[in-house]
Amino acid sequence: MADQKSKVLIIGGTGYIGKFVVEASAKARHPTFALVRESTVNDPVKGKLVQKFMDLGVTLLHGDLYDHESLVKAIKQVDVVISTVGHMQIADQVKIIAAIKEAGNIKRFFPSEFGTDVDHVNAVEPAKSVFAVKAQIRRAVEAEGIPYTYVACNYFGGYFLPTLGQPGVSAPPRDKVIILGDGNPKAVFNKEEDIGTYTIRAVDDPRTLNKVLYIKPPKNTLSFNELVAIWEKKIGQTLEKAYVSEEQLLKDIQEAPIPINVVLAINHSAFVKGDHTNFEIEPSFGVEASELYPDVKYTSVEEYLDQFV
Ligand SMILES: NC(=O)c1ccc[n+]([C@@H]2O[C@H](COP(=O)([O-])OP(=O)(O)OC[C@H]3O[C@@H](n4cnc5c(N)ncnc54)[C@H](OP(=O)(O)O)[C@@H]3O)[C@@H](O)[C@H]2O)c1
Repeated sequence: MADQKSKVLIIGGTGYIGKFVVEASAKARHPTFALVRESTVNDPVKGKLVQKFMDLGVTLLHGDLYDHESLVKAIKQVDVVISTVGHMQIADQVKIIAAIKEAGNIKRFFPSEFGTDVDHVNAVEPAKSVFAVKAQIRRAVEAEGIPYTYVACNYFGGYFLPTLGQPGVSAPPRDKVIILGDGNPKAVFNKEEDIGTYTIRAVDDPRTLNKVLYIKPPKNTLSFNELVAIWEKKIGQTLEKAYVSEEQLLKDIQEAPIPINVVLAINHSAFVKGDHTNFEIEPSFGVEASELYPDVKYTSVEEYLDQFV
């Protein structure tokens, strides 16, 4: 049947962003499969998540990124593979690529990206190397001729918005705020559920074939200054602002321990270099999700921040 929904396998479905992709796939009525490690099913916390997947009708496949046979066996049962493995496994996605080649049936592969468009970054170390590994995986996918979509969702809302990126706090600031750079370059923040929804919309869409899917809704594309202004309006207060110069930020990156240095360097790329927004999305390489799927009611940053007032 031409309109049948593709069978989707998520590798890394029990991870931070993976669970939103699994849930979006199941809710969109794609036959959904999650590759899970046996140890994870028996884990008290992750086991509950796995149970939730089963309640949603997700088929669990036992396997491991480092067990080639298990990967091939899982991949042969589906049409589309979405990887949401974490940063420790990004380079090892060559193992997924090899399994997809061997299986020979995959219509689309989404490697684990879910961040900045790694082909349009001006990052400093250590973020530079982190992005470079994702770019190498892109090149490996392309060299093997595997049909792909790369999801560039920019910031996970939940990582940044609950603190407005302030170090060592658990709520958005109410007195002082530290702003990186001059606060003018625009960055993009998306709620994790929306990232899941848009990713799954792209699965069977010919417009996203061999393209970067940018999730860059207009209401969520904001400078640090705009973000702070939205928050100030919500709480009816003006915050004291401290601007961190690029020079100071580069020094902080060099002096900070792992993983704080990585986070700072990613923030430098987004807020000082403007890497989320400093290029045009050309039709030859990319499409924008909120334009492709105007019916998706995404959560705006303004709405997201309401929960913290
Ligand atoms: N844009 C942003 O703001 C942002 C922020 C953070 C991350 N990211 C990106 O999002 C992507 C996913 O990161 P994440 O933080 O969501 O990942 P994560 O929470 O670390 O999850 C990693 C997933 O990979 C699975 N996994 C690990 N080793 C495996 C193995 N040997 N075999 C099979 N599965 C294995 C884990 O399974 P278990 O549950 O069994 O451990 C888990 O499901 C990455 O590309 C990362 O760079 C973006």
